[in-house]
Amino acid sequence: MTTKIGDKKEDVLLAAKLLKEGELVAFPTETVYGLGGNALDREAAKKIYAVKGRPSDNPLIVHLSKWEDVYAVAYPTAQAKALYDAFCPGPLTMILKKLPIVPDETTGGRDTVALRFPSHPIARALIEAAGLPIAAPSANVSKHVSPTSAWHVYNDLDGKIPLILEGGDSDVGIESTIVDLTGDEPTVLRPGAITAEQIKAVLGSADYYHGEIKEALAPGMKYKHYSPKVPCYLAKREKLQSACEGLKKQGIDAVVIATEQTAKSLSSAVISLGETAKDAQHRIYGALRDAEKFGAAIIEDLSDKKEYFAAMDRIKKATGGNIL
Ligand code: TXA
Ligand code: MG
Repeated sequence: MTTKIGDKKEDVLLAAKLLKEGELVAFPTETVYGLGGNALDREAAKKIYAVKGRPSDNPLIVHLSKWEDVYAVAYPTAQAKALYDAFCPGPLTMILKKLPIVPDETTGGRDTVALRFPSHPIARALIEAAGLPIAAPSANVSKHVSPTSAWHVYNDLDGKIPLILEGGDSDVGIESTIVDLTGDEPTVLRPGAITAEQIKAVLGSADYYHGEIKEALAPGMKYKHYSPKVPCYLAKREKLQSACEGLKKQGIDAVVIATEQTAKSLSSAVISLGETAKDAQHRIYGALRDAEKFGAAIIEDLSDKKEYFAAMDRIKKATGGNIL
């Protein structure tokens, strides 16, 4: 199949038509690009798993355009409405009890469903034109780095889907914060641009999930994620230069991924994460993909800076415990 890339109004209408016919299309969101299918259609959900090569016990996020859409798929709660009013549309996913209409294929057999209201205008136009809840994981091949541009999606999914909607570089750059609202306390299962502190300020309580990742939580988190196709290492700021030289001596053409401030002090090849935590979130996935042109990547350990918590979550997943 040939994969078309389009950014016109008629491309959005074509995408909506394809979704209604049970096909898949990739579309931009403010976090990362999504691979969408009709969330209420078992066969479309199965296609999503097949195209990504994703384990089918890892449930999908259902994308809606406005609060009223919740009533068609889940049991709304006062907490969910409060978070919706505070942060949506935006980079937040809420887990609620699902209605029976949402098939097991979409939710990985759970009695809960993850809901998100993206703010990207093309995502919103698409959901409205299709008139459907759209199940969409990140539009990468399973275990590869999440895509933040149409070109990233094309590199992973060319020939596998009919259409990619182009909507520029994803503004936020890392996936949405996931908050589970089905337990005793609101629990953040995946950190993102919206912090647990911000959620707590609205609901009165909320915390990050600290325990071991179990089946019953966000199952996607138990898999190795976000990995470039070259080895990735984590290193403290003061060790970056020597670690890079060490790899060079072994004949490995390594690149350092670091903040702009740190990059200035290095003489090795560097991919900059910019000056702020927001910049780092925006740039990290593009940096990880760019690192694939090198033999290895050494990434600055930013865990001493609280505001880099969400970016560090993705960096730790990419480096998977490899420390230099
Ligand atoms: O920003 C985002 O959320 C992007 C864009 C496309 O919207 N989507 C995204 O989807 O990151 P994906 O499939 O890559 O990640 C979905 C995560 C997984 O960790 C999955 O396990 C979790 O959400 N999840 C989905 N439904 C769940 C549920 N009912 N209970 C617990 N975790 C759930
Ligand atoms: Mg993903």
